[in-house]
Amino acid sequence: MRNIERRSFLQTLGTGVLGTAVLPAAAKNAIPGGGVFLSPSGSPDEQFWGLVKAQFPIAEGKIMVNAANLCPAPYVVGDEIIRHARALDTDVSFQHRARFETIRKETLQALANFLGVSADEMGITRNTSEANNMVIQGLDFQPGDEVVIWDQNHPSNNMAWKQKAKRFGLIIKEVRTPGAAASPEELLQPFEAAIGTKTRVIAFSHISNVSGQVIPAAALCELARSRGVLTLIDGAQSFGMLNLNLQALGCDFYTSSSHKWLMGPKETGILYVRQAHLERLWPTTMGAGWKEGDLSVDGRICTLGQRNDALAAAMTSALRFHDAIGRQNIEERVFELAVRLKTALLERVPGLELVSPEADEATAGIVIVRHTTQDNNKLYEQLYHQYGIACAPTGGLRFSPTIYNTPAEMDNIAESLRQLVS
Ligand SMILES: Cc1ncc(COP(=O)(O)O)c(C=O)c1O
Repeated sequence: MRNIERRSFLQTLGTGVLGTAVLPAAAKNAIPGGGVFLSPSGSPDEQFWGLVKAQFPIAEGKIMVNAANLCPAPYVVGDEIIRHARALDTDVSFQHRARFETIRKETLQALANFLGVSADEMGITRNTSEANNMVIQGLDFQPGDEVVIWDQNHPSNNMAWKQKAKRFGLIIKEVRTPGAAASPEELLQPFEAAIGTKTRVIAFSHISNVSGQVIPAAALCELARSRGVLTLIDGAQSFGMLNLNLQALGCDFYTSSSHKWLMGPKETGILYVRQAHLERLWPTTMGAGWKEGDLSVDGRICTLGQRNDALAAAMTSALRFHDAIGRQNIEERVFELAVRLKTALLERVPGLELVSPEADEATAGIVIVRHTTQDNNKLYEQLYHQYGIACAPTGGLRFSPTIYNTPAEMDNIAESLRQLVS
């Protein structure tokens, strides 16, 4: 892409011209020389997505399809990290660094706006693992209290609960859900069956990283609430992919990382705690600046000595990037790419079985397949070394495309795998 076009796109990010409400009309003006940015219908077309792709410094010839693990950040986010880091290094006095306290408050407000909650309910962590542990280790329980977890959770959730249980005498009930659930009710039923009078928390991934299964999170939170049970949603696979509102989701705790689907700075994450529960959550790390009686999540739970302020400061640019493209557009594009990839793989590559959900409506951004007779680890390595396709070996071959991918890349992946197994 010509530099001038990239600059123009970036300018719109900076000024907010591409707010979702004004996207179609303003976007047409955004490209010098009258280039068409959106199709006449106002929906993003391939030219639009090409422009989006050009915002990322992805190496020529490489196809990154591992958003569930780690995403590249767009230039605009990388530039912001560097800008803030440089500003810090010009003057590391306490006086000058005070600006980062203001920026952190603005970032918390931007995160809160993005997720439909209040700034005091948001904290900035290093990643989802840390945020999960803050909740798990920070809640008080009585021996014999029960916690319901999902067998498809990430280890930072399940292992942490199991350690806590060993130490404090909790009982962990690990729920299994059907591999090919035909309805949301089939997914909810095992959780409902596990809830008893001693259940205190249900902890589940919004979307499983090991199966790609999407949990009907709002319904599960409602069910838990009706039984007086708290909910911890691990949102590592939903923040930045789904167009989320945490109020609507109705959870009590939500955690995520910014280096996955949000495409934000690496080693930053979020912790949401519903206001009503903040006082019952103990801080597990306390750094300088911690104050008794601070009733914000960031102040009470997320102090940790000296941090890399430039990273947290650049989170806002990732949020703006999403808003400029349109969060609904992003969600729909990810689903479209995943369904295209799933279809192409199953149609064109002999010997594959689907590990992630079969129904298109249950497929979020994660497509997992497994070759029934060949060595999947070898295929994973060959895909990268021979075709530049970066996926994950989770559950077989896990592909997680996002907005810097194209439909042509989805077809390319299927064709490359077909050649490898033939
Ligand atoms: C569901 C889930 N939770 C937690 C994590 C851990 O994320 P991080 O390493 O950013 O803490 C992952 C990582 O893939 C994940 O998929």
